[in-house]
Amino acid sequence: MNILVTGGAGYIGSHTCVELLNNNHSVIIADNLSNSKIETIDKIKQITDKDILFYKVDVIDEQAAESIFSSHQIDGVIHFAGFKAVGESVEKPLKYYYNNIVSTIILSRLCIKYNVNKFVFSSSATVYGENKVPFVETMDLLPTTNPYGETKAISERILTDVAKANHSFSVSLLRYFNPVGAHESGLIGESPNGIPNNLMPYITQVAKGKLQKLRVFGNDYDTVDGTGVRDYIHVVDLAEGHVASVERLQEGVHVYNLGTGQGTSVLQLIYAFEKVNNIKIPYEIVGRRPGDIAVSYACVSKAEQELGWKAKRGIKEMCRDAWKFEENL
Ligand code: WQD
Repeated sequence: MNILVTGGAGYIGSHTCVELLNNNHSVIIADNLSNSKIETIDKIKQITDKDILFYKVDVIDEQAAESIFSSHQIDGVIHFAGFKAVGESVEKPLKYYYNNIVSTIILSRLCIKYNVNKFVFSSSATVYGENKVPFVETMDLLPTTNPYGETKAISERILTDVAKANHSFSVSLLRYFNPVGAHESGLIGESPNGIPNNLMPYITQVAKGKLQKLRVFGNDYDTVDGTGVRDYIHVVDLAEGHVASVERLQEGVHVYNLGTGQGTSVLQLIYAFEKVNNIKIPYEIVGRRPGDIAVSYACVSKAEQELGWKAKRGIKEMCRDAWKFEENL
């Protein structure tokens, strides 16, 4: 298949491009490079020894996006491009609602116009809000605590309605749990701008000495050791989930959790990182971070049954590969 990957130079997008190419698909990347680097394109080529097409395009520029659809025969779109900083979305809600929702509208409009029938969307486990764990795809979505999460829930609804009205348009809504780690080559990975918000990039920067110590947000949750529990998933497993999802996409709208089904606490992740990489991570316990939930992990049986996909990599590989990438920077 010829797949248009929006946000293909980003963290999850770049790993997905590698796995698409490894599975003999062709890739066209559309990325405005607002939170990614042009060098990533070459690294994808280097890892796979395959060529790709790259357009420096912002997909909310409909004319520019349309020029890609009109000049290529596209079989499917995987839509990653979007803003993803939870805290910033609270400060700048309109920036998030506008960018993340308009891009979904424009891309689905172009898919209908150019007869592109497969659409895979980057959603997030955050849409489950404070449901009971494990999160199951059939649960009602509860309000999220931030505009970023709302843009994911709203985009899911838009795509669902578009698919209802256009029977040949098939949609896969992929709800990611907590993607971490990097490609085992150490060539691509996550490099957030500024001080990281997420736990793993924070840990790797402390390990490198860029940051002094980790702050653990709360140890009074009702969890194994009081710290927050999440379902961390290796980004290469996540990327493989996208390949399975686009290859197996049937008519209609399909929702899948992409996680491991295993919960890991903040302290467990710190200790695993220390052990695997033989580096001490200084930390202190501070108060809870507003908007955090205690526990999040997936029920993964639907993806396993319908996509034939299952995460294979564990916490060890996640810690090893995240560190390998940071070390190489
Ligand atoms: C994980 C755990 C923190 C940082 C967020 C978004 C979600 C998705 C992924 C992305 C929690 C604790 C963290 C730190 C800490 N979006 N923590 N010290 O909050 O589960 O999910 O990122 O693009 O929509 O909400 O992930 O990595 O921020 O936090 O103690 O410095 O680590 O409290 O328990 P989260 P996270």
